[in-house]
Amino acid sequence: MNLTIGSDHGAVALKDEVKKVLAEIGGIEVNDVGTFGTESVDYPDIAEKVCACVTGGQADFGIVLCGTGLGISIAANKIRGIRCALCHDVYSAKKAREHNDANVLAMGGRVIGPGPAGEIVRAFLEAKFEGGRHGRRVGKIMALENSGKEQV
Ligand code: RB5
Repeated sequence: MNLTIGSDHGAVALKDEVKKVLAEIGGIEVNDVGTFGTESVDYPDIAEKVCACVTGGQADFGIVLCGTGLGISIAANKIRGIRCALCHDVYSAKKAREHNDANVLAMGGRVIGPGPAGEIVRAFLEAKFEGGRHGRRVGKIMALENSGKEQV
C-alpha cells in the first residue's frame, strides 16, 4: 500500500507519531510531504499536495493533519475525487471506509493524542468499503461533485 501524509505546523508532532504507527503496521510505503518544522504554513497547500498523490494514483490513501483537522479536511474535500473524513474516534474511522469509501483521513494535532490517533489510523486502514447500498450513496456524492450545483 502507498500512503501520502502531510500536516501543517499544528500537527507535526502527531504526524511523526502516526508515521511510527504506519511503520508498525508494516507494508506501507509512506510519502511525507511535510511540513517538517514549527514555521507556520497554510493547510490548504498541504491538503493539495497530499490529495494530488491520491487523485494521481501514487497513493492509495492520504492522511492530512492540522491543528483541529477542520481546515485541512475542508480543503481536501474541495478537490475532485477526494472523500476526506475527519475522525477523532475509531467507530467513525471504520465507517468512513466501510460506508463512505473515504480515501483521505483527517485528524487534529491539537485535538487528539498519539494513542487514540494510532487506533484511528489502524481502524481506517483495516476497514474495507462494503459497496452495495453504500456504493449507490457514494456514487450520488460524486454526482453532486460533478453537477456543479451550488444548491440542491
Ligand atoms: C493553524 O493555526 C490552524 O488554524 C490550523 O492548524 C487548523 O486548526 C485549521 O483548521
